[in-house]
Amino acid sequence: MAKEIVIWPAKVLTTPAKPATDFGPELEKLLEELEASMTEAEGIGIAAPQIGVPLRVALIAPEGLTAFEIVNPEVIHSEGPISLQEGCLSVPGQFEQTPRFQKVRVRFQDRKGEWHEQEAEGRLAHVFQHEIDHLDGLVFVEKLSQLKRALIRDRMKKLK
Ligand code: CO
Repeated sequence: MAKEIVIWPAKVLTTPAKPATDFGPELEKLLEELEASMTEAEGIGIAAPQIGVPLRVALIAPEGLTAFEIVNPEVIHSEGPISLQEGCLSVPGQFEQTPRFQKVRVRFQDRKGEWHEQEAEGRLAHVFQHEIDHLDGLVFVEKLSQLKRALIRDRMKKLK
């Protein structure tokens, strides 16, 4: 079932999430909720804190590319600084140029707890970085200037 998307700067979005340690039915249920919530919100990725769950679990699903379920992910290598237009389901209607890397290598577990390594570049690398940041308590607005961040904070208050 789709859950409501939490809006920045809610505490669950600005606090590092905890490692997932249970690879059983509860994790499967969380992954299903994430997928339903992402689909309903028409997102290309979603992290568990965005539905109020403080665990290191996320989905990556850019259109036309392979989708990934990532549990306890970390970026182990990054290269090629680049600036990309970015938005987030938790910051509706706001899109800003954001510093990222062109290429990353990430390590993560799947729903069974098996470890994988994946190289990504371009759009896929972008979504990996965005979702892994969520698990570290970072939303893209934290990478913008103080002025832009303050403006966006005001706009989010008006949404409520
Ligand atoms: Co986001």
